[in-house]
Amino acid sequence: MDTKLMTKKVYEKLENIVIIGNGGRENSLAWAIQKNKQVQKIYLIPGNGGSEKIKKCQTLNLDYENKNLLLQTLNSLEIDLIIIGPEIPLANGLGNFLRSKNFQVFGPDSDGAKLESSKSWAKSFMRKANIPTSKFWKVSSVKESEQIISASPFPLVVKADGLASGKGVFIPETKEETQQITKEIINGKFGESGKVVLLEEKIEGPEISIFALCDGKKYILLPSAQDHKRIEENDKGLNTGGMGAYSPTPILTKSELSKICKEIIEPTINELIKRNIEYKGVLYFGLMITKSGPKVIEYNCRFGDPECQTIMPLMDINFVNILYKCAIGNLNGDEELLSSSKVSGCVIAASEGYPENYDIGFPISFNHKECEDVQIFHSGTSKDKGGKVITDGGRVLSIVCQGKDFDSAFNMAYKVLKNINFDGIYYRRDIGHQVRKNYCKDL
Ligand code: AMP
Ligand code: GLY
Repeated sequence: MDTKLMTKKVYEKLENIVIIGNGGRENSLAWAIQKNKQVQKIYLIPGNGGSEKIKKCQTLNLDYENKNLLLQTLNSLEIDLIIIGPEIPLANGLGNFLRSKNFQVFGPDSDGAKLESSKSWAKSFMRKANIPTSKFWKVSSVKESEQIISASPFPLVVKADGLASGKGVFIPETKEETQQITKEIINGKFGESGKVVLLEEKIEGPEISIFALCDGKKYILLPSAQDHKRIEENDKGLNTGGMGAYSPTPILTKSELSKICKEIIEPTINELIKRNIEYKGVLYFGLMITKSGPKVIEYNCRFGDPECQTIMPLMDINFVNILYKCAIGNLNGDEELLSSSKVSGCVIAASEGYPENYDIGFPISFNHKECEDVQIFHSGTSKDKGGKVITDGGRVLSIVCQGKDFDSAFNMAYKVLKNINFDGIYYRRDIGHQVRKNYCKDL
């Protein structure tokens, strides 16, 4: 069959796009999608203070959990594709709802989102499909946890089973601390999300984020990325949503990647198919490359943030067509994604105090313009009554730059950051240290 003709038919209309979410991730998706000439309008629901500076973008300030209102709005807009960014609406079944109303949706139904919304479910899934991961024990009472902690090897990683905005994972230093944090979680530290606690064997090695765009049966991979989870330089301090990233990751060799496809990605997709879960969206594999091979740390049912901001500028103009093909279950599996051979780096500017308490509402001054190879994606921002952009979250801006190598990409990102300011701005100076040849620890 002539695939070009088939492709043309599939893409007959891809003019109006909706993106659900309000972060840097959603803005970077919009930025990559607007490059495509077919696209006329992108609605971000609700978007943030920087969404409307992206070409073709308009924010719709409505609560997407209000399904009647959402439906009414969508029906008035002739929407061709809906992309759901964050995990909470996916876990709550927004994908199911929109599909039941005949929209084309990129983002799994709640059954597929369970890979992220229940860590213990995901672990049993991996065990069933023989996917390499760390050993684990599931507990739901303090007594049970005491028995397991005292009988298990140390150290253990403690995780709230449900969604906890990236804050539900602990790596305690002693058995007593392990017991203490387990008890706090079971007793309600994360509400319902901590009713079940997962105790995991601690494994070691570099971490990598892999993203598979799935159409329910086939998949294609985005370039790999490496996140920086900890708040402080030298990977110290509390876990965050991610303080910066780079892509692609040179530590992943071709043979390592093909091993990951064979041992992890394909068995995951096959197990989903076996369970009649039609996964149409991005499947995020958080991997650790251990001495005994790659292992899954976690699955997520959405693009990583800030990995998404880092990867999007590398995408070809047809990226939106590929998302659409996933939504309608029509991927070939060999589509081209990359637009260039450049590399990309992202540094997050956060509010002082994040990931714990921080203030919001500070005006942001930008003395640097975006240009080719420099994007400033807004993460936690909004506009005040006078239309001025102010801080409105823990992670405020994602500064993303591309270059022929990581030194030039990150040098540019840090140069841009010198020209951006708000009260309490904080960013790590060592993002990309793994790949910067001229990186100096004392910068
Ligand atoms: P998660 O939210 O599950 O991605 O966990 C947050 C971070 O905790 C990961 O990026 C790892 O750095 C660390 N982590 C999670 N599980 C383990 C494990 N079993 N062994 C070692 N580190 C882990
Ligand atoms: N950057 C990690 C995440 O999105 O979960």
